[in-house]
Amino acid sequence: VQRKVTQLDWSLDKLDRGGYAHYMLKEIYEQPVALVDTLNSMLDRRLGELFSLAEQPCVKLLEEAQELVLVACGTSWHAALLGKYWIEHLAKIPVSVELASEFRYRELISRKGTVVVGISQSGETADTLAVLREMKKQKVPTIGISNVRGSSILREADAVFYTSAGPEIGVAATKTFMAQMLAMFLLAGYLGVKRQNSISEGLLMGDSTLQVSSHLGNANVFPKLFEDLVLLPHLLTSGLDPNSEMVKQILEINQKLGEVKGFFFIGRGYSFPIALEGALKLKEIAYDHAEGYAAGELKHGPIAMIDEGMVVVVLAPLDSWRDKTVSNLEEVKARGARILGIGDSKDLDLKGLCDFWIPLPEGSRKISPILLPFLLTPAIQLLSYYRAVLKGTDVDKPRNLAKSVTVE
Ligand code: M6R
Repeated sequence: VQRKVTQLDWSLDKLDRGGYAHYMLKEIYEQPVALVDTLNSMLDRRLGELFSLAEQPCVKLLEEAQELVLVACGTSWHAALLGKYWIEHLAKIPVSVELASEFRYRELISRKGTVVVGISQSGETADTLAVLREMKKQKVPTIGISNVRGSSILREADAVFYTSAGPEIGVAATKTFMAQMLAMFLLAGYLGVKRQNSISEGLLMGDSTLQVSSHLGNANVFPKLFEDLVLLPHLLTSGLDPNSEMVKQILEINQKLGEVKGFFFIGRGYSFPIALEGALKLKEIAYDHAEGYAAGELKHGPIAMIDEGMVVVVLAPLDSWRDKTVSNLEEVKARGARILGIGDSKDLDLKGLCDFWIPLPEGSRKISPILLPFLLTPAIQLLSYYRAVLKGTDVDKPRNLAKSVTVE
């Protein structure tokens, strides 16, 4: 059998721990580079156009899409959920987000223009691959998004976008999630620019009210979004600095938390998928009971669980949803839960309501709030990481888990 040789651009020095206690920690710290590398590999900056994706077969498929179905598992599913929010907001294309393990046994009602996108950092997840295989049989166009060149997803999808986070050894996905979020955002930006949508400048520039008042035309918002995107690696680097207030607070909180009956992570809008990811990370490596909720869902049942034994992690950055999230915070506070807030460093009102406080990096106020998931992410990752270390779990190889889930 003749096989095509695929050259991986990964070097051996990327495979040691580089002085970090765990791969997971190293990979959290590699996130600014993962962003830069993914930006450079997915875009063709020579074209001089905003969000211009490098020419490749999946770009054409994407352009023809009238509707996207994003399919994934675990952390990749959280990236897909963010993708839905960004694509619908910036490109006004309907997007549905599906768990691969469910979707593969359901019927897809596809229309002309439906494109199915499978997102898998490993490119080997059995359920995600099965969906792509089935779609191919049904002649539905498919795109894969993966971090591993030469992985099986290349065979199953019609075309693939690659993220460039480099090899990830820790079982808990960190830098690959960061790169997937960026991939989602780039697709949204690309489709938005292409489709000449007009969106509210107010919403993008950081108004704290959700008002889509004046429609300005994309000429005004996409350049600003792109500038902000380029700032992200710097902001992440400053947040991850061991002397930053974010890291210092996380270490301190970790010492104080002690016994916790359970954690809730709550957020609204763009913070909701990060709440889900925060809960997953904590379960995965620290073995704490944790659940992620859209903050508005609390009163539909979960709030019955709240008492003094619970810690509620409230993701309330300065965006259109901040005030509503704060009112949910007050509800759980009144029922005795300890509150760990994550928000803007100057949001002293919010800080005052919290028992524990993690500020986002200073510069985060300058960027569009729709990009804040990128900055909330390292906070929830480090929170879980240090809690796991304190509990003495095997951070890089948590029990019962495998890096690639290649069976059902
Ligand atoms: O390789 P994939 O992105 O397809 O993997 C999907 C999930 O198994 C994966 O994201 C899992 O949830 C991670 N261990 C989370 O940290």
